[in-house]
Amino acid sequence: MQDAWYDADIERVIVNEEQIQDKTDELAAQIAADYASVDHLLLICVLKGAVMFTADFARALGRQGIPVDLEFMAASSYGQGTTSSGVVRILKDLDRDVAGRHVLVVEDIVDSGLTLSWLLKYLESRSAASVEVVTLLRKPGAMRSAPPLKYVGFDIPTEFVVGYGLDYAERYREVPYVGVLKPEVYTRPKL
Ligand code: XMP
Ligand code: MG
Repeated sequence: MQDAWYDADIERVIVNEEQIQDKTDELAAQIAADYASVDHLLLICVLKGAVMFTADFARALGRQGIPVDLEFMAASSYGQGTTSSGVVRILKDLDRDVAGRHVLVVEDIVDSGLTLSWLLKYLESRSAASVEVVTLLRKPGAMRSAPPLKYVGFDIPTEFVVGYGLDYAERYREVPYVGVLKPEVYTRPKL
């Protein structure tokens, strides 16, 4: 097989495909047990970054026998760069009412937790029956503002990562693992 175009841009793999798959199954089993008495769950995928994790996680929950509804929201705090602006913008709102629903927010990564704190308040103000979060990745910065994170895949170092939905300037989302880019990628003229 030909090398993927992105392999040459990745300095280091942080979480590989097999680790992601195993952790997704483990989280799904745990959540299926915790929600055994709940009719069905509403998964809210936080676009765009959580798209890969949500797709895999929803199927893993399905295999555990838990029916799910899928909703999508987009909120942005990063723009084009690699440092948090602290400003959250709704780019896409929910299509349906969450009142009375058991909601599980599916996140790709929690860094400062600013985006998530804001989102949790928003969902609570819409009278969800319960709101929990499952995030694939957590950076140490999350400890500070700390919205309650019940389900966490991997704790990773404070470094900018790409892949498995996470981008740098909208690229690298299709990379099947999570990794750190080579420094030279950031000094290259943008395509
Ligand atoms: P906060 O700081 O609000 O940030 O918890 C959460 C959002 O910021 C983005 N983010 C990243 N995106 N690589 C990315 O591609 C990273 O290392 C990274 N860290 C934070 C992401 O959109 C997340 O939802
Ligand atoms: Mg995100």
